[in-house]
Amino acid sequence: MGKAKTKWICQSCGAEAPKSLGKCPDCGAWGSFVEEVVAQSSPSAEVLGVFNSVPCKINEIEISNEFRFPTGMEEFDRVLGGGIVQGSIILLAGDPGIGKSTLLLQTTGFLSGNGKKVLYVSAEESTSQIKLRAQRLGINAGNLYLFTQTNLEQIKQTADEMSPDLLVIDSIQAVYSNAISSSPGSVSQIRECTNALLEIAKNKNITVIVVGHVTKEGSIAGPKVLEHMVDTVIHFEGDRYKSYRILRCMKNRFGTTNEVGVFNMCDCGLVEVANPSELFLQERSKNAIPGSVIIATNEGSRPVLTEIQGLVGSTTYPSPRRVSNGIDYNRFLMIIAVLEKRLGLNLSKQDVYVNVIGGLEIDEPAVDLGVALAIATCARDVFVPADTVITGEIGLSGEIRAVNNIEKRIKEAQKLGFKRIIVPKNNLLKKENYDIEVVEVSKVMDAISACVQKQ
Ligand code: TYD
Ligand code: MG
Repeated sequence: MGKAKTKWICQSCGAEAPKSLGKCPDCGAWGSFVEEVVAQSSPSAEVLGVFNSVPCKINEIEISNEFRFPTGMEEFDRVLGGGIVQGSIILLAGDPGIGKSTLLLQTTGFLSGNGKKVLYVSAEESTSQIKLRAQRLGINAGNLYLFTQTNLEQIKQTADEMSPDLLVIDSIQAVYSNAISSSPGSVSQIRECTNALLEIAKNKNITVIVVGHVTKEGSIAGPKVLEHMVDTVIHFEGDRYKSYRILRCMKNRFGTTNEVGVFNMCDCGLVEVANPSELFLQERSKNAIPGSVIIATNEGSRPVLTEIQGLVGSTTYPSPRRVSNGIDYNRFLMIIAVLEKRLGLNLSKQDVYVNVIGGLEIDEPAVDLGVALAIATCARDVFVPADTVITGEIGLSGEIRAVNNIEKRIKEAQKLGFKRIIVPKNNLLKKENYDIEVVEVSKVMDAISACVQKQ
């Protein structure tokens, strides 16, 4: 018998090489190459059959209306673009312990209660462990089948026999196929198993939800290679030491990708948070303090109010520290530069810290003005009143630029009882349409004179 053919595969991105490399040329990961035995038959050959068709004219193709069903949680539905699409394959990724199994158990509990047949394959926990959790969550539906199995061929056979409406694989890193000799969790195994699941989804019109752990650098394969293969990628995020969780859509062949869902993890499982602003603002001090500012940002199509804190103090380091949490670091440096140049604020011997409360990651420029005011008020020991909300993008000459979805931001501030909102003048709003005081500004300096007060 000839020697088995092997390849070196990057466990981070799936890149292949004939020999081991220290650094992956594709994704830049260090020490990520592992030797894997190459499968005799091309794993994707079978799957290609799914899409075998002859070329046809676009205007002659008939589309069957995609059929969606709700998950029982509005937040989850919104992230998916209006419910689960029948026959699609969804990847739910997140850190271990964040609550993926809990979310799926609650969802499948609801679906099976509504007449859907669900096969929940657990490759990590025993059925009694899941049953215990289900009991705590009050799930007891007859149509929910639990199956502890790690072998792909067995899973496939069971799915064929049962023909469920929904198949859950928890998690893909623990499942292995007999066709490949590398260990579960390796890129080849993940690719082969997902291909097989893709075939089940597309051929039998069974919806498949795959759980994938996001692994830290250097550990076994993350779900990166999976992302190309599935229809929808959802990330479940959050601080393990805080109770709320954010569901974020990263890829969606059936809807937009900028929606987020917010949940609270409590004793009775995940509870939807219909109004995230209240959650993010609940610990804020009722009295205004220097460096604390409330901003109106957008999470998907939904406005969210949250607090930004800035701290400025004399440095003891040779070069002053610049630390930003929750906002883009380069934008943060740019805002400091604008404050120094346009406001004459001298921060060259000061450490500057900015933190977005609640662990939110904000990547839109509308947060700029809030960050600038958080830094400036702390540096000058003045404050923005606690009943004022800030929104606006800053340009390099200190001008305030228009932001999108401004109406929604204003309405959210109004709904939560704020008295005043600072907005860019360039948004050309009709102020009389709102019950809240709308203050228009065109320069950073205007914003400071409009709302900053002395202690
Ligand atoms: P789990 O769903 O097992 O996480 P994952 O599948 O992503 O690894 O959730 C594990 C955590 O959730 C665990 O630390 C306990 C917590 N938890 C609650 O706080 N309340 C609950 O009702 C449940 C079921 C779990
Ligand atoms: Mg789990």
